[in-house]
Amino acid sequence: MASILLPSQLDPLIRAPTRSTTPQPPRAVPHLHPTASSDTNIINIRSSTECPLDNLGTAIVDGLSQPPGSKSLPALLLWDEKGQTLYDDLLTWPEYYPYRVEAELLNDKIGDITATIALSRADILVELGAGNMSKSSLFLSSLDKRLHAPLVYYALDVDGAQLERSLAQLKQCTTLKWITVCGLLGTYEDGARWLARPELAAFRRTLVWLGNSITNCEEQGASELLEAFSRDPDTGRPQNLAGFLLLVDGCQDAARIELAYDVPSGKSRGWIMHALEAAREHLGGDGDSDVESLLADGNWRFEGRWHPERQRYENYLVPTRPLMGIIGGQLIRLDEGERVAMLGSGKWPEATVSAVAARSGLEIKKAWRNEEFQYGAYWLQPIIRRHDSGIDIAEMGESGKESTKRE
Ligand SMILES: C[S@@+](CC[C@H](N)C(=O)[O-])C[C@H]1O[C@@H](n2cnc3c(N)ncnc32)[C@H](O)[C@@H]1O
Repeated sequence: MASILLPSQLDPLIRAPTRSTTPQPPRAVPHLHPTASSDTNIINIRSSTECPLDNLGTAIVDGLSQPPGSKSLPALLLWDEKGQTLYDDLLTWPEYYPYRVEAELLNDKIGDITATIALSRADILVELGAGNMSKSSLFLSSLDKRLHAPLVYYALDVDGAQLERSLAQLKQCTTLKWITVCGLLGTYEDGARWLARPELAAFRRTLVWLGNSITNCEEQGASELLEAFSRDPDTGRPQNLAGFLLLVDGCQDAARIELAYDVPSGKSRGWIMHALEAAREHLGGDGDSDVESLLADGNWRFEGRWHPERQRYENYLVPTRPLMGIIGGQLIRLDEGERVAMLGSGKWPEATVSAVAARSGLEIKKAWRNEEFQYGAYWLQPIIRRHDSGIDIAEMGESGKESTKRE
């Protein structure tokens, strides 16, 4: 059963968002939840019926049952504890430019970025897919210096062990005056549902998505996810959104991209191939000969491809011989050489980011760039709509309240 923190348990920061020009020390976060670690304050927001993590077995069978050309495996298979370790190892290879370039961009522009976020006067800051949180310390330290009121920072991730480790490390190496650090264990969708609860409606929130992670979604999916954080999924009413900070890779250089996603050391291949081991585990492979043989490492190889027309690099797993077996009561057949999509990484220039944002009612208000690598940090806020009556409806203006302005 999901453990969802009650708003009263977020007391006292969440209960009463008050702003003062007189600096006040942050109040201590109390014991949050029976399942929350007292050291790292991790709140489990996973929903047992809707969380994809609980249904990975079904998602695997479903993805492998699709017709040739449409088969896939769930990307979440890559983010278990071992997958996180393999990914973190990949980050250390110089050919994997996205991590290095993003860190440089943040280092160069952090003061301006956090000043912008501080001005947006949020009560809650959620970092989506926080993972190793290697950039979070720099980010929060800089933001903390620019705040004049308490703010609760939630690192959201799907992997509990990684979250626990990263939060402990962050707390050890960072001293914050205004910011209280907590964790949310769940998927992006869990996070959107959690933030949409009426009890949190009064609390202005900023969302931060580092690591080019938004582009793992296709453009339409990314817009839908942004919208899930901007509008109440049931009523369509705007959420109390201060803004979104997105870090997005816009590189279109095929050679550079291909080298980064298939590094000579083989570390990227190893990470993508790990999905097979994770899938066997999810399907309870031990003793099930169909699962064991269909998903055996030796029957698959890695393939990566840059698709310039889609501005997207795709990682595939490809059978090295014809495969057939029954998994979850379903007959699965794969041809030799048939691509199974594993994880994609979009490379979106500013125009694409702008289009993705616009479809979810957001617009780019500020951008910071690394021109050489076309890497961008984008600050998005809700679009102010002009209605036929001549009245501008600021769906969520700077004040965080719905406001109207007559011409
Ligand atoms: C590319 S890493 C980024 C880590 C870190 N934010 C950075 O910028 O280096 C992506 C992180 O997102 C998490 N993640 C992936 N899919 C997720 C999902 N659907 N919901 C929540 N977290 C997810 C993974 O567990 C992983 O820690």
